[in-house]
Amino acid sequence: MNEKRIWEIIGKMTLEEKAALCSGKDFWHMEGVERLGIPPVMVSDGPHGLRKQDDKADHLGVNESIKAVCFPAGCATACSFDEDLLERMGSTLGQECRAENVSVLLGPAINMKRSPLCGRNFEYYSEDPYLAGKMAAALIRGVQSWQVGTSVKHFAANNQEYRRMSGSSNMDERTLREIYLTAFEMAVKEAKPWAVMCSYNRINGTFASENRKLLTEILREEWGFDGFVMSDWGAVNRRVDALHAGLELQMPGPCPEDDAELVRAVQNGELSEDELDRAVERMLRIILRYEQAEVPQAVFDREADHQIAADIEKECAVLLKNDGILPLRRGEKVAYLGGFAAKPRYQGGGSSHINSTRVSSALECAPEGVVYEEAFPADRDEWNEEAVERAVRAAKDAETAVIFAGLPDSFESEGYDRSHMRLPDCQNELIRRVLEVQKRVVVVLHCGSPVETPWADEVPAVLCMYLGGEGVGEATDALLYGDANPCGRLAETWPLRLEDNPSYLNFPGDEDGVSYAEGVYIGYRYYDKKKMEVRWPFGHGESYTTFAYSNVRLSSEGGKVRVLVDVTNTGAREGKETVQLYVEDCTGTPGRPVRELKGIKKLSLLPGEKKTAELELDDRSLSWYSEKLHDWYAASGSYRILLAHSSRDVRGEATPTYFSKQRMPLHVHHNTTVGALLADPRTAPILQEVIEKAKSMLAPAEDAPGEAAAEAITEEMSRQMLFNSPLRAAQMFFGMSKAEIDALIEKLQKAVDA
Ligand code: BGC
Repeated sequence: MNEKRIWEIIGKMTLEEKAALCSGKDFWHMEGVERLGIPPVMVSDGPHGLRKQDDKADHLGVNESIKAVCFPAGCATACSFDEDLLERMGSTLGQECRAENVSVLLGPAINMKRSPLCGRNFEYYSEDPYLAGKMAAALIRGVQSWQVGTSVKHFAANNQEYRRMSGSSNMDERTLREIYLTAFEMAVKEAKPWAVMCSYNRINGTFASENRKLLTEILREEWGFDGFVMSDWGAVNRRVDALHAGLELQMPGPCPEDDAELVRAVQNGELSEDELDRAVERMLRIILRYEQAEVPQAVFDREADHQIAADIEKECAVLLKNDGILPLRRGEKVAYLGGFAAKPRYQGGGSSHINSTRVSSALECAPEGVVYEEAFPADRDEWNEEAVERAVRAAKDAETAVIFAGLPDSFESEGYDRSHMRLPDCQNELIRRVLEVQKRVVVVLHCGSPVETPWADEVPAVLCMYLGGEGVGEATDALLYGDANPCGRLAETWPLRLEDNPSYLNFPGDEDGVSYAEGVYIGYRYYDKKKMEVRWPFGHGESYTTFAYSNVRLSSEGGKVRVLVDVTNTGAREGKETVQLYVEDCTGTPGRPVRELKGIKKLSLLPGEKKTAELELDDRSLSWYSEKLHDWYAASGSYRILLAHSSRDVRGEATPTYFSKQRMPLHVHHNTTVGALLADPRTAPILQEVIEKAKSMLAPAEDAPGEAAAEAITEEMSRQMLFNSPLRAAQMFFGMSKAEIDALIEKLQKAVDA
């Protein structure tokens, strides 16, 4: 970027102009400096379509925005597990932004799905940080290929709507790093977003907007972020503190009082002008990058993009269950039941709400001859006995009944969380009534988050469209009738019931905040550790064909490990398989999840075709965040590398050994346990020698009591007693004097520090 030009401009700016640039010009524009040729550029929501408001502005989706194309929401697109697809969607969005003069798209939204109840889960990607990070990076790359920025949001730990502007997300450092920051870290490092949007909430008591550790130390200094940080709309608490922390742009504007506060702070020395200049520089850099970019002529072709939206959704929908009744045959007598068939719910409410050009329904795209009964409305929980009876009759007369169920808008939205995980009662009851007369039932779901499915065992097929964007109708019929083969995979676990979710006891917290007491055990990390039955596991998704895995092999190159596995399409249809790579720590390190996703690869295979999936691992793939080390750490030892169809369907594995270059800090003192010292290769030999020498002390005395007592002291018991003993007990165990113990401690510490 034109360094000299930027500093020349800053040199000519008055203090007031600099302060003004640090807040929006209005709801959707950054401030410019017209006299110096800096225009006020526009930003717009995001994340799955353009919500450009030309007229009356708001951040809740209340007022009209221009006609645009609504792509599938994050809840759906993450299920594609497909980086190329997300990049293509991003590029389409980028072109739309360019055509509409939008410089920064406010998205992607990548917060973790801690609880199924979070009202905004529909916009977010996953309960898994690796998957969310990969999806985000791909979307960002796509948008920014048009030299349009993205503002990845909401940084950080904004996982509920309850008290979203004041609550505090309280957690330990390891949980924050491993679960709530990783997706942002991957997005920043892999795709260099132009902007980051800080969240409303506090983290361990400090507002995200005033969190220097987050906005400067971690984001910039550790991860190398080189764009600017903007606030979520209204997230600034105290302007000067926010600027100090690393928040450049306050949105929305104008904020004359806060601008004046910045000016005063410089004048009274609370803020240095250099600090303000740096903030201005970071924003100018992005504004000029947008303004000066040379890109092809952009066109917003709404019809073409509608088709892209439909095609994307075909790659996202998840076939949750299929006992062989799907795909439907053309000519089969089919009844479509439920209001969602005619009025699909395809997007969520709030700031992501798109004024869609046109929305397709499954009903209008259905083959001729499909009959329709509304049975229940799409927008509320309302029972109408007559409508239900008509629907039940239609189901009975048909060969197959397809019930279009889902969550009405009022059940989930930005701004509030759900209070339960159920579908409207009228829908569950309708499904029950239809099952009484018709066994061939398909349930198609439209929802932004998992729902309880009490009928899942009796219904032979379930297809989840999530919130599938404006082309959801075309996509649904293509999948139901087999013109497309389902290949989506769950980006989140569907628990049997809400109470099973690990955050259940600590959601949504109270006035003071919410405790993330489950730590790193969110989603499948928890269900797997507890060996719990779930409705559908993370990564799950059926297909109309089948795949076989073979020949897992590893090779290492320059600090990275390549993992290869052959996948064969063993069925009769073309289809896509997502190979999922999970890592299991077998080193004995306590407190680690059973397995964690560390690689994905989607392959497209013709019937009978075999391809090799190539995945990659690095040190980080094996690591956890150590608070002792303030760094990522993986112990030496063996790790299982699992190649899987889902988190609970492992198809191949290898178990390499890892040699760590890192050493855990160890402070040896009187209360360090023998076990800890034996587990550390630096201290183990010294201690082993002591134990060998003292073995006679540990052996039973000649005049020891009889057999009965000796039997009670098992070998394991002695071993554990020794392991769990602190060094000070060496006096008792090994007959060492205090001076000898002190000398041993010194020797051990020397070995650690060597
Ligand atoms: C939302 C953001 C959004 C902003 C602007 C806020 O309420 O949290 O995600 O980008 O409004 O509409």
